[in-house]
Amino acid sequence: MTRPMPDAELRRAADYFKGSPRVLVLTGAGVSAESGVPTFRASDGLWEGHRIEDVATPDGFARDPALVWQFYNARRANVALVSPNPGHVALARLEAELGDRFLLATQNVDGLHLDAGSKRVLELHGSLRRTRCLSCKVVADRGLEVLANRPICPACGGFLRPDIVWFHEMLPPGVMEAAQKFALQCDILIVVGTSAVVYPAAGLIDIVRDRGDYGGRPAGTILEFNLEPTAVSDLVDVGVFGPSGQTLPRLLELIGGG
Ligand code: OAD
Repeated sequence: MTRPMPDAELRRAADYFKGSPRVLVLTGAGVSAESGVPTFRASDGLWEGHRIEDVATPDGFARDPALVWQFYNARRANVALVSPNPGHVALARLEAELGDRFLLATQNVDGLHLDAGSKRVLELHGSLRRTRCLSCKVVADRGLEVLANRPICPACGGFLRPDIVWFHEMLPPGVMEAAQKFALQCDILIVVGTSAVVYPAAGLIDIVRDRGDYGGRPAGTILEFNLEPTAVSDLVDVGVFGPSGQTLPRLLELIGGG
C-alpha cells in the first residue's frame, strides 16, 4: 500500500530553508533501508541471527575473531550489492547547494552517503570499508574487496579488525567533536531514519535544542524524517513521516534544489 506524501509537513519544513541556513544532518539506518540495508532494532534482539555481544563488542572479537569477521564480511558483501537511494542523493544535492554551510553526521557504516556524492560526511560509527591493524594501528580503506575471515595487515603482518565502533568503545577521536561544534552553530538539524536512542550521536539533538539554556545560540529548528514517530518526535519542530527515499527528494524540490 502506498501512503500519500506528507505534503503539508514538507511545505512547513521547506519554509525553514529560506536564506541559505546552516544545516546539520544526522542519519541512521533508516536512510539506507530503501537501498536494501537492514536496520538494527529488530524485536527479537538479534542482529541477523547473532547476539550483539558476540559480533559487535571488543570481548566478542577477542573470543572469536573469525566469527566477527565472517559477520562483517557478510555485511560488506551485502553493501557491494546495493546502491544509494534517492534519499542519499537528495542529501548530496543539499550539500551541493549549501557548501560549507552543510555537514552530515551518519551513524551508518555502509558508505552509501559517500557513494551518492556527499563529501562533508562524518562517519560517527566507522566504516565497513575500512580495516584497522591491531599491531601497527594503520587504518586502510579496502573498499568492498573480499577479505579473508582472519585478514592480515599487508604493512606489518598483524591481525586486522573492522574499523567500526563497537558497543563499549569510544567514537573515533575528533569526529564527534566536529559534529558537536557544528550543532552549536547550525540553524537547522535534520534527523533522518534513526531511532535516536544511541548516544553520543543522539546527543546532537539535545545540543541543538538546549544550547540556549547554556548561553549559546537560541535553539535551532529540528526536522525529523522517519517512517514513524520516535522517542524524539515530541521535541521536533516538524515531523515528516514517510520513506525518506521519497520525502527527502520532495523536500529538495520544494526548496528549489531538486
Ligand atoms: P535503528 O534500527 O535503531 O532505527 C532505524 C530507524 O529508521 C527507525 O526509527 C525506523 O522507523 C526508521 N526507518 C526505517 N525505514 C525507513 C525509511 N524508509 N525512511 C525513513 N525512516 C526509516 O537504527 P539507528 O538509529 O541508525 O550503532 O541505530 C543507531 C545505532 O545503533 C547504529 O549506528 C548502531 C546501532 O547499535 C553501532 O553499531 C555503534
